[in-house]
Formats: sequence, C-alpha cells, structure tokens
Amino acid sequence: MSAAEAVVRVADVVKEFGALRVLDGVGFDVARGQTVAIVGRSGSGKSTLLRCIAGLETVQAGTIEVCGHAVGRPGSAARAQLRRDVGMVFQSYNLFPHLTVERNITLALSLVKKQPKEAARAKSAEVLALVGLTDKTTAYPEQLSGGQQQRVAIARSLALEPQVMLFDEVTSALDPELTAEVLAVMEDLARRGMTMITVTHEMGFARRVADLVVFMHKGKVWEIGPTAELFSKPRTAEFRQFVSSEL
Ligand SMILES: Nc1ncnc2c1ncn2[C@@H]1O[C@H](COP(=O)(O)OP(=O)(O)OP(=O)(O)O)[C@@H](O)[C@H]1O
Ligand SMILES: [Mg+2]
Repeated sequence: MSAAEAVVRVADVVKEFGALRVLDGVGFDVARGQTVAIVGRSGSGKSTLLRCIAGLETVQAGTIEVCGHAVGRPGSAARAQLRRDVGMVFQSYNLFPHLTVERNITLALSLVKKQPKEAARAKSAEVLALVGLTDKTTAYPEQLSGGQQQRVAIARSLALEPQVMLFDEVTSALDPELTAEVLAVMEDLARRGMTMITVTHEMGFARRVADLVVFMHKGKVWEIGPTAELFSKPRTAEFRQFVSSEL
C-alpha cells in the first residue's frame, strides 16, 4: 500500500510505561475507507495503541503517520494537526451534563474550529441526523439513554470532520439493545466510507463490518488479515483460543 492510500500508518511502535513494555513493535496500515477491528485479551495493549494513534500518548520508538503527517512531539504543530484529523470515542461518553445535545456539539466546533454559531448549528443538525437523534437537539444528556448519549458523543466527534475515527469499546457499558443501536450507527458510518479503527469485544460486529482484523497479544500484532480469512483459519493457538472464548 502506498503512503498516499494509507490514512494511518503504524510502524515498529514501542510504548513503555516505566519498565513495562505495552506495545512491542506494532505495525499495520489502514487504507482510506477501511474498517479495522482490533481485538485481543484485556491488557494486550489495544487502548494504548489507539491512544498513541490519537496523539494522546508519546511513543518510545517507531512511527505513526496520519494522512501522511508524522504524529510529532506533544505541543508541536504536527501533533495539533493530528488531533484534528483523528476523532476518538471512548466507553464513557464525557458529555457536558449542563449543556444541551446541540451545545455539546457546537461547543467543540467553536473551540476547535472557531466556527461561527450558525455554521456550527447547521453542522450539529447534520451529524445528529446521521446518528438518528434529530429529535433530541434540545435535550440534556441525563434525559437520554446510554446508547443515545454514546450516539451524541459519536456525532460530536464527527462534527469535527476527522479523517479517521477511533472507537474504544464504545458499547461495553451498554445493555444489548442499546449496544445494537450504537453498532448500527457505526456500521452505517463504515458503509458511508468513513475510515475507522474500532477496539471491540463484539465479534459479530467485527465479522460483519471489519475489512481487516488485528489480533493483539502481549503488545504485538499476533495475527492480522482480512476478516473472513482470519476467523476461518486462525494461524496461532492464541487467536484460536481467543475466538473460542469470545463465542
Ligand atoms: N498510563 C498507564 N500507566 C501504566 N501502565 C499502563 C497505563 N496505561 C496502560 N497501562 C498498562 O498497559 C497494559 C495495556 O493496557 P491497555 O489499556 O492498552 O490494554 P487493553 O488491551 O486496552 O485492555 P482492556 O481490554 O482491558 O481494555 C496494561 O498492562 C496496563 O496496565
Ligand atoms: Mg482497553
């Protein structure tokens, strides 16, 4: 894959917390429009990897590029650009409880993009339609279900028009019914051609939606490949065991 086609390039990344090596030479490319599912046991380094791609952590070795730009040092212009190119949604929605749904979205737009109020409100309406919450524009977070709050968090991130969206276990705090509605929004985004990297325990979602699966184990990319191929023919005992434990 050429650098031009890849939205995200991760190469030989090492991340340590003190003496603990959490990412041990991780590398893979994500092409524009691709959906990647990162799976693996607890502690295998999945969240840390996403945080590194989002520029929330600094790596000890290796390179990360988003849209052809290196991640750069904290405080650098390159890091600031990265933060604009990458949207990230976490398990906790982190909405401001005292602001309406619309204000939660337009606040980010005025702070990050310095957008005038009317343009920000139009953008808010557009992204709320994408996540199916047009009728909740004036609601406060506490008036929404967990699934609806998570969809607002996704909409807020989309409003900033990122080049790639990162999702870290965004449904793990939700009941099955609410999980399904959030996954449906993500599936729709994938269909619309959004480039996405999702850490997920939802193997059904990974099998259905992901183009590429990355199985992390002990801080390494243990297995990687096209979804159907990887799940039908696990190459390592570790991945086989993981797949059977997730059924
Ligand atoms: N800020 C930190 N300081 C020290 N150690 C950390 C820090 N963040 C993560 N770790 C350690 O790094 C390892 C990988 O953590 P990480 O959160 O990336 O795993 P994960 O694959 O996302 O796990 P889970 O499935 O439970 O979310 C763990 O051993 C964790 O304790
Ligand atoms: Mg995690």
